[in-house]
This record gives sequence, C-alpha cells and structure tokens, in this order.
Amino acid sequence: MSVKSQSGVRTLVRWMLREDLQAVLKIEHESFEFPWTESEFLACIQRPNCIAMVAVVQEKVVGYMIYEMSPQSFQILNVAVDAEYRRNGVGRALVQRLINKLSPQRRHKISLEVRETNLPAQLFFKALGFQAKAILHDHYPDTAEDAYLMTYEIAPQVNPGFRNRLAKFFR
Ligand SMILES: CC(C)(COP(=O)(O)OP(=O)(O)OC[C@H]1O[C@@H](n2cnc3c(N)ncnc32)[C@H](O)[C@@H]1OP(=O)(O)O)[C@@H](O)C(=O)NCCC(=O)NCCS
Repeated sequence: MSVKSQSGVRTLVRWMLREDLQAVLKIEHESFEFPWTESEFLACIQRPNCIAMVAVVQEKVVGYMIYEMSPQSFQILNVAVDAEYRRNGVGRALVQRLINKLSPQRRHKISLEVRETNLPAQLFFKALGFQAKAILHDHYPDTAEDAYLMTYEIAPQVNPGFRNRLAKFFR
C-alpha cells in the first residue's frame, strides 16, 4: 500500500530485496559520515530478528529503514532518505509503518539512538512523536560525541491477573 504525502509524493513501503542493496548503499554513503558497509548491511539483515524496508517513489528506491525486534519493543538501527527526496514525507512513511505495528499487548515501544549533532534527525523524530529520554555519553567508537536515546511508546496492557494481584496488595 502506498502513502501520499501533503506535497503529493506517493511512497510505497515494502521489504528490502537483495537487488535494492546498491541503491541503499548509495543513499547510506551520501547520508552519513560513518556509513555502514555492504557486509554490515548483509550481516544485519540476515539476522532473524532484523527487518529491512525500503521506500519507493515512482519505482525508484529513495529511502530505507532497518529495525530490530525484541519481545516488547522495536529498535530502529538505521534510516535514511535520498537527499533529493527529503521533506516529502518519505521518512515519515517508513517510520509510520513501524508505529502502526505497535500493540499494547506486545511490542509497545520504538527506540533509537541519534547523534547529538544530527539536529535534522532529532527534529524529524520529534515531529513523529518521539521523545528524548536519555543522553548516552561516549556512545560512538568513531567520534567523541554523545547520543540521545529517543523513544515512541504506547501504554502497555497490564496482564489482568497481575493487575488483580496488584490491586489486592494495595487494598
Ligand atoms: C531524517 C530523515 C530520514 C528524514 O526524512 P524525510 O523524508 O526528509 O522526512 P519527512 O519529509 O518525512 O519529514 C517529516 C517531518 O519531520 C520534520 N523534519 C524532517 N526533516 C527535518 C529537518 N531537516 N528539519 C526540521 N524538521 C524536519 C518535519 O516536521 C517534517 O514534516 P514537514 O516536512 O511537513 O515539515 C532524512 O533527513 C535523512 O535521511 N537524514 C540523513 C540520515 C539520518 O540522519 N538518519 C537518521 C539517523 S538517526
């Protein structure tokens, strides 16, 4: 299913295929000072709990998102959009796909780490409803800068048995 942004750009979000990798690597190298290598992408997406999605506009791969699943949460490991297609809702379409997967019964939180100098990404995640929760000092092996831990959460559903036990305890 594709998403049409306010600027009229129609974005399709789908699973990443092996043949998308060269386009993804090009965006990665143009977007980051310390890009992931091809083998880092392959190692990551071959892990069973790691999912890679791409954003496609007019049949061209213009963005991607890699995330990891754990029992209660998702962690975004990498996300970028081709510079020529930014501010057209492509990044929003990718991250919104993950937000739509949240459920009170299971995975109710998305987290990610963003460099303190990456203000555009901080503003992007803030616009999507993420909040900065912690500063991670000396987080990166490549620079001395800190990271912000940002999260998007919905309220988890408390197991009714556990809620009843809690209610008895506090009666
Ligand atoms: C961060 C990134 C993925 C955003 O992708 P995008 O497709 O441009 O984002 P969207 O168009 O969906 O933006 C959604 C909203 O986020 C906010 N936003 C996005 N980029 C912003 C910027 N540079 N400055 C301020 N706000 C921004 C805006 O509120 C925007 O809505 P608007 O355009 O209607 O005002 C893109 O800038 C990018 O690839 N950056 C380089 C890689 C990177 O830093 N990745 C994140 C690593 S943690």
